[in-house]
Amino acid sequence: MISPDADPSKATRTSVRTVIVPAAGMGTRFLPATKTVPKELLPVVDTPGIEMIAEEAAAAGATRLAVVTAPHKEGVLGHFRPRPDLEETLRERGKDAIADKVNRACEVITVAPVVQERPLGLGHAVLVAEELLDADEDAVAVMLPDDLVLPRGVMDRMAEVRARFGGSVLCALELPREEVSSYGVFDIADCAEEGFADVKRVRGMVEKPEPAEAPSNFAAVGRYLLDRAVFDALRAIPRGKGGEYQLTDAIEALIEDGHPVHVVVHDGFRHDLGNPGGFIRACVDFGLAAPEYGPGLRRYLQARLAEDDTAAARDDGSGRGA
Ligand code: UTP
Repeated sequence: MISPDADPSKATRTSVRTVIVPAAGMGTRFLPATKTVPKELLPVVDTPGIEMIAEEAAAAGATRLAVVTAPHKEGVLGHFRPRPDLEETLRERGKDAIADKVNRACEVITVAPVVQERPLGLGHAVLVAEELLDADEDAVAVMLPDDLVLPRGVMDRMAEVRARFGGSVLCALELPREEVSSYGVFDIADCAEEGFADVKRVRGMVEKPEPAEAPSNFAAVGRYLLDRAVFDALRAIPRGKGGEYQLTDAIEALIEDGHPVHVVVHDGFRHDLGNPGGFIRACVDFGLAAPEYGPGLRRYLQARLAEDDTAAARDDGSGRGA
């Protein structure tokens, strides 16, 4: 597994104050669990994805997490509130390390909540958070809590790119072409600027194209550094795919208006916590890396897979597993 943190010596802090975390979606792919438990609180080992995002935002220098929730997803905000009763009981019982863990989310960054009354799409969720920004904030970050982008720290590079080229900066991963059809895919041009070999200029975006029609194999992942102009674009777009207001449509509109948009091609990978298949992989990766669970999990997986191989060999009559 790749180390979760980028080389800290390379990090420069972003100038953004506010990170918007949209967490008001329906979590359809995780039903029935998400009937009462917000998807953003499902734990990877023991830590919810949204807490990892809060840590990433704070590490990038942001001071405010604008959390967009739905009326029935109050638990998302509860996770960032202190629980003195729980802490006291844990400390009385000598469980200080767990009490510290319970407090972590409350201390890492200031949370500012805003409610999206109906799930009208990611673009709409970002738009409702505009009211939380100060008048002098000329850019804002958006981080999706169901996307773990590893190694962490890509926002720092995105801030460097905005400082050089202005406009908005997104994050891309280079994927095998056959995998791009579940992503937004960039139409890109090389950026011939020294020191920016990992950066490309965006000419357009296509949402979930067939592999043969994809303009590239560079796919969008859930990190955005957006010029404040995005809010005017969000107000102007009509409903798009699925009847929702799409953030990618607003970014397209910015590009059409001549607004500079670049991507940082991240040298790493992402875990998609938004669907059970991706979530299970993240749990395995983080579980293997956890000192208290890793060795046991490794032994279990090795034995379990060997058992499967033996059964498969027996079933195909080769006797390889005998
Ligand atoms: P997703 O599309 O992954 O989340 O949106 P979802 O809509 O909850 O998932 P499914 O498709 O129903 O399974 C990415 C992020 O944007 C938020 C989600 O909560 C998630 O964190 N979101 C999405 C909103 O805040 N509001 C919306 O209207 C839609």
